[in-house]
Amino acid sequence: MRTPIIAGNWKMYKTLGEARELVAGLLAGLGEGAACEVVVCPPYTALASVGEQVANTPISLGAQDVFFEAQGAFTGAIAPQMLCDVGCRYVIVGHSERRQYFGDTDATVNRKLHAALANGLRPIMCVGESKPQRDAGEAEAIVTAQVRAGLADVTAAQMAEVVIAYEPIWAIGTGDTATSADAQAMHAAIRATLVEIFGAETAQTVRIQYGGSVKPDNVDELMAQPDIDGALVGGAALKADSFLRIIQFQ
Ligand code: PGA
Repeated sequence: MRTPIIAGNWKMYKTLGEARELVAGLLAGLGEGAACEVVVCPPYTALASVGEQVANTPISLGAQDVFFEAQGAFTGAIAPQMLCDVGCRYVIVGHSERRQYFGDTDATVNRKLHAALANGLRPIMCVGESKPQRDAGEAEAIVTAQVRAGLADVTAAQMAEVVIAYEPIWAIGTGDTATSADAQAMHAAIRATLVEIFGAETAQTVRIQYGGSVKPDNVDELMAQPDIDGALVGGAALKADSFLRIIQFQ
């Protein structure tokens, strides 16, 4: 009953020409459509152009971050309405790289999530533990606390628009994927937290993506887990053939 959602997080890769070439390859490979929802998240500079390219296609457009203010003297920042303006349907908030390098906290992630929702954007909220936290046995406590803080003051009705991405930091860009059993265990813990906050009915409808070195050769096993409803893909989303294979998971 949950439509799987596979999103490509291109991070700081792709010039305009490269972005358009990748999307052309994806559109050619997708043909009529896909069995899941497909999202690409190019860098800001390529959003408007890719937005035109994917209009009325099976691919949705997403951004990699957003600021929570509507407008103003915030040099370098991008407002939710600006993302809507170029065709974005989704926006990633709280990616671990934003938390690590750009000072995002659970509190600012929560503000970004509310700003996205208020403007009709669907947030993909990332959570995940570091290696030392996992080794200390704190992973579940850390991740469920991030879920609670990031979703503060969100209503059950709004949760229909929210996607959660579980991305263990030690698995991002390392080739070191969580085992499907470990990923499933954390997804189940996240869903149990959603049951506590929003009730069972809402929790069953929320899509939880796994992210962290998702590749053509591990996507099938991950997607076979009952609480894994999609993937947030970095490196393997930068080439059409590998991202297409991930979209076409078995
Ligand atoms: P990766 O990145 O697939 O390259 O590990 C995932 C992410 O950071 O979203």
